[in-house]
Amino acid sequence: MLSTLPRLIGHRGAKESAPENTLASLREAARQGARWVEVDVMLTRDRRPVLIHDDTLNRTTSGFGPVPDLTLAELKRLDAGSWFDPRFAGESVPTLEEALVLIADLGLGLNLEIKPYPGQDVPTAEIALDTLKRLWPAGRPLLVSSFEVPCLEVAKAVAPEIPRGYLLWDPPADWAAIADRIGAATLNVHQDRQTAETVAAYRATGRPVLAYTVNDAARARTLFDWGVAAVFTDAPGRLAAALADVAD
Ligand code: G3P
Ligand code: MG
Repeated sequence: MLSTLPRLIGHRGAKESAPENTLASLREAARQGARWVEVDVMLTRDRRPVLIHDDTLNRTTSGFGPVPDLTLAELKRLDAGSWFDPRFAGESVPTLEEALVLIADLGLGLNLEIKPYPGQDVPTAEIALDTLKRLWPAGRPLLVSSFEVPCLEVAKAVAPEIPRGYLLWDPPADWAAIADRIGAATLNVHQDRQTAETVAAYRATGRPVLAYTVNDAARARTLFDWGVAAVFTDAPGRLAAALADVAD
């Protein structure tokens, strides 16, 4: 399912042009020509999987406080678009179900990042994977990723056939052993922390390296030169235009 991995993956949809992790952002990524999108999933108080990045509602909605303080019904009353631009007023926090249906309708591949609220690694992964298994069309490109190793262990146990990406920011000394144990298909690393040597070390494990988050075309070019397979970008259309000779 990774054979169609593109060079550019829309980060939280098309975060530069639309409110991140909303249906509008997913549509915008498709409009800009992205072939894959990345989104973040977390649980509400009533354990419904929704697309949101932060632990709190403060930055990206009209609400306030921790995400798991609200039920889905309460969350759905919030505005998740106005903070970005008034023309997105009325955009809501999508359920994972809503997002999966739209992403598949748009013909996109998906990297679903499991982003548990602290202490909710296992239920977040279990519910996200269950939802994927119910709703994601067979054969459509899919990668599940997380910074949280317990999430990847759950994913391996309940859906071993879905490729897993091991997200790294400050890699632990035993990252390679962990990647082996969880059966990581890819290593998803912070772009700013990479050199030719670090990318070579990751690639030496035989895994594609994906780098987040790259909005500068020159930096993307350097990372590709070092052997990075794909970059997450807030601006898939802008980068595609600047990298037409190397990006598909
Ligand atoms: O999955 C790549 C990237 O999204 C990881 O970092 O904080 O943007 O979710 P973050
Ligand atoms: Mg993410």
